[in-house]
Amino acid sequence: MPFANRPRVLVTIPMFAEVLAKLAGHFEVDAPCGTADHIDWTPETLAARARGAAGLLVAGAPRVDAALLAAAPSLRAVCSMAVGHNNIDLPACTAAGVLVSNAPDVLTETTADFGFALMMATARRIAESEHFLRAGRWTHWSYDMFAGADVHGATLGVLGMGRIGQAIARRGALGFGMRVVYHNRSRLDATTEQQLGARWVHKAALLAEADHLVIVVPYSPASHHLVGAAELALMKPTATLTNIARGGVVDDAALARALKARRIAAAGLDVFEGEPQVHPDLLTVPNVVLTPHIASASLRTRRAMADLAAANLVAGLHEGTPPTALNPQVLPLRAAQ
Ligand code: DGY
Repeated sequence: MPFANRPRVLVTIPMFAEVLAKLAGHFEVDAPCGTADHIDWTPETLAARARGAAGLLVAGAPRVDAALLAAAPSLRAVCSMAVGHNNIDLPACTAAGVLVSNAPDVLTETTADFGFALMMATARRIAESEHFLRAGRWTHWSYDMFAGADVHGATLGVLGMGRIGQAIARRGALGFGMRVVYHNRSRLDATTEQQLGARWVHKAALLAEADHLVIVVPYSPASHHLVGAAELALMKPTATLTNIARGGVVDDAALARALKARRIAAAGLDVFEGEPQVHPDLLTVPNVVLTPHIASASLRTRRAMADLAAANLVAGLHEGTPPTALNPQVLPLRAAQ
């Protein structure tokens, strides 16, 4: 098909060459980042580039909102290769008849592996002790040198019991003999609770009981600062907190204060308010492990996420059912047009 007859799609993120090649079999592909470069999209640059495009392939940023849809009325599909989609205004897209999809499931186990690893690194002070060794400060053995908290047999608190939360609970209960408590708006059915060895508790009880709290709730206005100073005050002074959800779910300034005052023992953070900026106080406290939003970053999983986003884009702009549409209700409306 000649380019002129093909819909144009804008890929806003660096992308696997193979996935770009696959998309080029269907579309005129505008991939300004190619496979490597990064662009800091502003609303203006994104609107200018999206004008005339039929599809967008994005990740956890940039923001896709009513203003962008108004600037790019030709858009018909917005496909994210992330599972979290708080950067996309779903009601606005639905109202404009724009199909939205995300990339769930394919990243569940990889992200749970990372959440568990970050929790363990935090509990066992792995980053802190590694920095100490690299700095040439290891001169002798001591019984309390970087003595941390046990993971096996401890109480794992999971805040947010979706697919990833359940995969973390399973690791804790079955792999490490942990007692698992969780809090979620909706309770799991009794069979799943039994399989995971998990008990639903109120949020306050979760905070008070957990030796290791892992946060996996999606970000929304309702989960903004779900864990702030008041919640941190309920935690044990020996407890750890791990956030692999989204920046903004935890009040990072309050967390930095709690870590500095040893109100809680330690934290592991993969996501930050205003990332890639990190609250400066978090950079100066030793008892926090910081990683740059890489929980889903195994090559195999990132490729699966990209393939799923591409499959959604192809189906969303051609005939077919996108595998993981978030607003499939727009499809019959579009077919009737
Ligand atoms: C997701 O998929 O939401 C991960 O956080 C990567 O952005």
